[in-house]
This record gives sequence, structure tokens and C-alpha cells, in this order.
Amino acid sequence: MKVLVAGGAGFIGANFVRYLIRSRPDIDVVVLDKLGYAGNPESLAGLDRVQLVVGRIEDRDVVFPLVEQCDIVVNFAAESHNDRSLNDPAPFIYGNIVGCYVLLEAARTYGIRFHHVSTDEVYGSLTIGENRRFQPDDAYRPSSPYSASKAACDHLVRAWVRSFGVAATISVCSNNYGPYQHVEKFIPRTVTNLIDGIRPRVYGSGAQVRDWIHVQDHVQALCEIVERGRIGQTYLIGVDGELSNLQVARMILEEFGHDPDDIDYVADRPGHDQRYAIDNSLLVSELGWTPLYTDFRAGLRETIAWYRDHEDWWRPQKEATEAAYYRHGH
Ligand code: NAD
Ligand code: DAU
Repeated sequence: MKVLVAGGAGFIGANFVRYLIRSRPDIDVVVLDKLGYAGNPESLAGLDRVQLVVGRIEDRDVVFPLVEQCDIVVNFAAESHNDRSLNDPAPFIYGNIVGCYVLLEAARTYGIRFHHVSTDEVYGSLTIGENRRFQPDDAYRPSSPYSASKAACDHLVRAWVRSFGVAATISVCSNNYGPYQHVEKFIPRTVTNLIDGIRPRVYGSGAQVRDWIHVQDHVQALCEIVERGRIGQTYLIGVDGELSNLQVARMILEEFGHDPDDIDYVADRPGHDQRYAIDNSLLVSELGWTPLYTDFRAGLRETIAWYRDHEDWWRPQKEATEAAYYRHGH
């Protein structure tokens, strides 16, 4: 069996490919990735049975022949950072949405199974303190150009299932952390800043809540959904990992042996979503999924150790990433 992994050189995609190669000896993988700033072939280093094709998902001439030779497509490919989408929405619209459309058309043409990796941000913001979590059928209320582009993709997938009979599933996951995450994202940014002697930057008051999941749990859930999920169904993936940004920053500071209040508060993100929270009941009851990383602090400690041990992987991105943050007041 051959799996086409679009965006497989990014954070979650690379972890997915690594897990597939480790756990499914009968599977070959083709990665299609534009190798943008967040795509790194080093994240796939040392893997057998993986072919990397450099190209864009919105390019039909690249996508169609690849889809034709594969048995299933899993789509991770997207510009994925909210802050970047606020500074320049264009690649989010042209890459994420048009790219998803082209992949769906290829899947329709060749009758190939399709899985789309989405985000809890499509549902917008919950209120801090409210006793409610996202449900699969909640209304879509995206806040940023990034989350709006992801919402658009989900709508396309659902339309292609209903109108054209494409065999597709969608998964909606909360905030991931773990190895191979780009240093622009909150946890790796904070960890690598501390390695460099820079204080954590927290947006606004830091009260915003994210529902953290280790990337390993995400990719295992994805395998269950791809193998046994119901066509047309949206599955929510999360592990009850709600923490405020301030709590996370303090934990990281403690792991470095620093004063937990050693934080710089910087300008807030425009339109900043206050809280995300996932109800994973469907995934657990229907597919029997159980997460491994239920202890956030233990997963965080392991992740910090990974960044300490893999400076060669993240260092080339660090200076330019921080320079861009400084230019935008973060
Ligand atoms: P990432 O930015 O680390 O990786 C994205 C990868 O896609 C990169 O390798 C990039 O080069 C590639 N890519 C982007 N646009 C492309 C295009 N048009 N054509 C070909 N390749 C392209 O992102 P990530 O954190 O690994 O996220 C992967 C997917 O999971 C995204 O779709 C994201 O929306 C979704 N997601 C992420 C999280 C999270 O916490 N990181 C949570 C839920 C869902
Ligand atoms: O919920 C899933 C989403 O999680 C994914 O769809 C996105 O691709 C992924 O980037 C992530 O989005 P967030 O915007 O939540 O992640 P980010 O790491 O950018 O920020 C996490 C929180 O931390 C957010 O409330 C903003 C805040 N933050 C971020 C940075 C980089 C800070 O306070 N300081 C920072 O330096």
C-alpha cells in the first residue's frame, strides 16, 4: 500500500510519516511538500520507504500523477501559523484552500480515499470558565485568516463527499506539541528562547487557554481514523489538556530552574481566540482510541530534552524567526 502524505515535511506530517514507517511495515510513503519555511527534509532523515517530492498541492500537474499511483491521501499541507496569516493572508488562501480543492479533485478523479487534517480553530473561541467543549457538529466561526482557510477546506471536503461521493474523513485536533515543531510556535519558541537566555514572551495577559496534545497521540489517532473511520465523519482529537498560556510558560520556566514569573508580556494577537477545548468522546467510543501522553508535564519535559539535544535541527530557523517577531511587536 502507498500513502501520499501532503505536507509530510512539516511538524505533524513528519511525525505521522515516522509513525507509519515504524508501525506499518507493509506501507510505502510518498511525501509531497513545497518545503516552505516550515518544511524540513531533515525531519524525515534516516527513514526507509519514503520518497520526498518537492511541489505544491495547488499544482495539478504535480498532484494528479502522484495521487493516481497512491491508495490514500492524507493532507497536512497548509500554512499553519495564525500570526503569519494576520501579517499576510495570501498564501493561506491560495495554498491552503486551492490546494485542498486540487487534492480533492484528484481523489475524485482516481477514486482514492482522502483524509483531511483540520484544526479546532474552525469552531472559533470558547469562553474561559464556560463548561462547554467543541462538538463535531458545532457551527464554524473561524477568527483568523488561517482558521478561515482551514474552515473553507473542511467545507470543500464535506461538499466533495456529499456531491461527488469522495471517500473522505476529517479530523479536528487541538494544539500539538512535541519534536520537530517549528520554533515560531509557542512551546518551541519559549523553550529555545530560554536555551538562548531570552525571557518567554506571553501575548496579552496570558489567560488564553489551549488544549495541549502530544503530537504522538495525534498521529496515532489519525491512523485509527484513516484505517477505521466512517466516511463523511468528522472526528475530534484531544486529551483534556486545557492550560492557560501563562501556566505553560511558568511550567517551562520551572523546568529550566528559573523563576516562574520571569516573563515578558508583549502585545496581544488581534482577534485572539480565548479558549479551545475538545470533546473526544466519539473517537474514544467508536474507535477505542486511548492517548499515551496524559501527563502534560512529562511530555513537556521530554520535548524540552528533544530541543536541547537537536539544536542542529532548529538553530538555522531561530534568528530569522525571532527577528520577524520583533518587527511585529512580539
Ligand atoms: P507546519 O507548518 O509545521 O507544516 C506544514 C507543512 O506543509 C510544511 O512542511 C509546509 O512546507 C507544507 N506546505 C504548506 N503549504 C503547502 C502547499 N501549498 N503545498 C505543499 N506543501 C505545503 O504545520 P503543522 O503544525 O505540522 O500542521 C500540519 C497540519 O495540521 C496543518 O494543516 C494544520 O492546520 C493542522 N493542525 C495543526 C495543529 C498544531 O497544533 N500544529 C493542530 C491541529 C491541526
Ligand atoms: O488549535 C490548533 C492550532 O494550534 C493549529 O491549528 C495551529 O496550526 C497551531 O499553530 C496552533 O495555533 P495557536 O495560535 O494556538 O498556536 P501558537 O503556538 O501560535 O500560540 C499558542 C498560544 O500562545 C496562543 O494563545 C498565542 C500564544 N503565544 C504564542 C507565541 C508564539 C504567546 O503567548 N507567546 C508567543 O511567543
